[in-house]
Amino acid sequence: MAKNLTHTVGLDVGTSRVTCIIGEPGDGGLIDIVGIGESEARGLRKGVVVDPEAAVDSITRAVEEAERMSGIEVEEVAINLSGSHIMSFNGQAIVAVSGRERDPVYESGHGRRNGHAPVIVAGRDREITQDDVRRAIESASAIQLPAGREIVDRLPQEFIVDDQDGINDPVGMIGARLAVKVHIVTSPVTARQNVINGVNRAGLVVGEMVLEQLAAAEATLTDDDKEFGAALVDIGAETTGLIIYQRGAVQHTAVFALGGSHFTNDIAFGLRTPIPEAEKIKRTVGCASALSLSESERGELVDVPSVGGRPPRQLSRQILCDILQPRAEEVLSHVADEIREAGWEGQLSSGVVLTGGGSLMNGMVEIAEQVFDAPVRIGYPERDRFGGLVEDVQSPAWAAASGLCLIRQRAKSAEMRASLARAQASGGLGALVSKFRNRFGGIF
Ligand SMILES: Nc1ncnc2c1ncn2[C@@H]1O[C@H](COP(=O)(O)OP(=O)(O)OP(=O)(O)O)[C@@H](O)[C@H]1O
Ligand SMILES: [Mg+2]
Repeated sequence: MAKNLTHTVGLDVGTSRVTCIIGEPGDGGLIDIVGIGESEARGLRKGVVVDPEAAVDSITRAVEEAERMSGIEVEEVAINLSGSHIMSFNGQAIVAVSGRERDPVYESGHGRRNGHAPVIVAGRDREITQDDVRRAIESASAIQLPAGREIVDRLPQEFIVDDQDGINDPVGMIGARLAVKVHIVTSPVTARQNVINGVNRAGLVVGEMVLEQLAAAEATLTDDDKEFGAALVDIGAETTGLIIYQRGAVQHTAVFALGGSHFTNDIAFGLRTPIPEAEKIKRTVGCASALSLSESERGELVDVPSVGGRPPRQLSRQILCDILQPRAEEVLSHVADEIREAGWEGQLSSGVVLTGGGSLMNGMVEIAEQVFDAPVRIGYPERDRFGGLVEDVQSPAWAAASGLCLIRQRAKSAEMRASLARAQASGGLGALVSKFRNRFGGIF
């Protein structure tokens, strides 16, 4: 199988499904999806590995399928960070700018070569460097965490240079004080390590680990959604992740130990039918909102297999809806409460976007609109970001894996640009440019 260094791989290790997407740089900055693989997940509970052997097997099967489709041998992957144990908070800090002194500025037509002294000289203000930004972010996240917990991501929300706020990237600006607001994500060390170990044991290196709902958002939300305010709710099998954007930055995240499997269990208990049958009924005729069914659909009869060798029964879809709707309201109300408590209620002009397999249930959008009292849509991997086999992943259940692939591609491109800048500074640019152009084509 070919070793291809330009590709990136998103691997979403879920509680019910492992999904893998292999992407390559395509035309116009798109990521061409060239390989897709999925497997039924085993060995995870609420996003946490509980049976390493089974988890490794599920990961291997999904990756091998994507490898076969693309003819590419996968070595490095970006994986999801998930689980109800993940907690996050906002921090802030101010640091004195210690970046390099500004170059003196000469009046136009004058200059040192002409023997003129600079007419504007940098005073005590300095140019903000990447190092100042790093120090500010570190300072904002320098807090005492409970034993066994670690910071897994720091997402800058806003920079303030002296008194100017709302800055996304302060590098190169002039100032004396740099303040930063950061969203900080934490996880138990062991939970994170166990997923990484599972991926390593499948023969893969973890290049990056990204909060699952953040990855789903990168694939599905537009820049306007992030700017004007949107909440993405990723409904998985045993977890539901929330991420709130406003002013182009992540403002809040949370994970709940609730998901699609609760709906399946409710059907299994409520209708006394085996779990696999309950899952089938949920997917084919389940409905989370009675309002989304017509009168005749509500009366439609559904065959329900019984347990213990008893004969199957017939029940109306309305009864099924009576079981599923309260559960949908419960799950979504937890999310709505979190949005309200975090202070974002009524401020999300772009509304709510649902991703994850749980969002596929009939009636989910309708019930979510009632609970959130906001416009709701399903999030699909955006066609302006992905090419190749994009039609094959047009489902909210593929949002996280495609987002992981995209995030890794952007990180690799940024690494390449940084290498180029270093090479430029040290003179050996020519060879490097052609090497990267060859490898990264359109996206570089
Ligand atoms: N058509 C459908 N209708 C209703 N539910 C569905 C449908 N398709 C999938 N689901 C549900 O979606 C859930 C799986 O979603 P997803 O693949 O996003 O979860 P996961 O990533 O494995 O889990 P988690 O994120 O919690 O670790 C399951 O509970 C499944 O029953
Ligand atoms: Mg998931």
